[in-house]
Amino acid sequence: MSATSVLQIRPLAAPFGAEVLDIDLSQPMEAAAFERLHQAWMRHLVLVFRDQTSISPEDQIAFSARFGELLPAQIKKYALKGHPAIGVVSNAKDETGEYIGIPNSGRNWHTDFQFDRRPPDATFLVSRELPAEGGNTLYADMYAAYDALPREMRERIAHMRVIHSRVKAWPVLYPDRAPLRPEDAAQMPDVSHPMVRTHPVTLRKALYIGGNMAIGIEGMADGPAMRLIHELRDFAVGPRFTYSHRWRTGDAVLWDNRCTMHCATSYDDTKYRRVMHRTSMGPAVPV
Ligand code: OGA
Ligand code: MN
Repeated sequence: MSATSVLQIRPLAAPFGAEVLDIDLSQPMEAAAFERLHQAWMRHLVLVFRDQTSISPEDQIAFSARFGELLPAQIKKYALKGHPAIGVVSNAKDETGEYIGIPNSGRNWHTDFQFDRRPPDATFLVSRELPAEGGNTLYADMYAAYDALPREMRERIAHMRVIHSRVKAWPVLYPDRAPLRPEDAAQMPDVSHPMVRTHPVTLRKALYIGGNMAIGIEGMADGPAMRLIHELRDFAVGPRFTYSHRWRTGDAVLWDNRCTMHCATSYDDTKYRRVMHRTSMGPAVPV
C-alpha cells in the first residue's frame, strides 16, 4: 500500500515504541499522512517501519528531510557513495579490505552526536543486511526515567549541565586510533548541554545524559560528577524504561534523540555482516 493510506500504528510489546504498518517509505507521503506519523512519533518516541525492502537511498533522504535539515555523515569516508548525508554503520569490508562503514558504532548508551553543539533531533536507521543473531539495538525512554526519579533528585539536577569532550575522551575510547591532530582537535570544542531538557514539541522533560564523551558537570568536581552521571544512566537503562529491538529484514527505525537513548549491541562479526544506513536530521541546541 502507498504511504498515503491510513496509517496503522501498533504499540510494541514494550514500555514504549510502536510499529507503523501499512506504509511504504519508497512512496511519496501526503502532508496529512506525515502529520499523523509525526504525532505517532511524538507519542511513541521510537517508530519501527516493517518490510521497507524497496526503500532506496534517495527515498531515505527524501523521508528524512521531512524532519529537518540533514546532517552530513559523521565520518566522511564512511558516507554512502554519492550520498554524503547517509552514514554507513557496518562491519563489512570492500574489495580493498577497508571497512565500508563504522564497524562498532554506538556500542554504549548515548544519543546521537551529544558531543555536538547542535545534535540532531532525529535519527533514521535503515537496515540493509542483518546478522542471523545479535546486533539488537536497545532504546531507553528518558521521559519515563526522568518522571520516575525521586523529587529531590529532580530538583537537584534541574539546572545541571553535562560537559562533553571528544578531545579528552578520544584516547580513552579509541586507544587503537591515531591520536587527534591538533588541527582536528581544534574542530572539536567541548560542549555542555542541560542534564534535563524540555522537548520543544511535547514540552515534557527528559533526562539528557547519554554518550561516552561526557566528562563532567559544570561547577562540580569530576569524581562526584561522573558518579552522578553513571548513577542516573544506570537508573535510566533499567528494564522498565527500555526496549530491545530485534531487527527483521526490511526494518527501518526512527527515533527521537531528545527523549531517548540507544545502544548498539554486539554480534559475531567474524560470521555475519551487518549493514545499516543512518541519516541524522534536525540539528538544534538542546534547551
Ligand atoms: C549509531 C548507532 C545503532 C545500531 O551508529 O549511532 O547507535 O544498532 N547505531 O547500529
Ligand atoms: Mn547512535
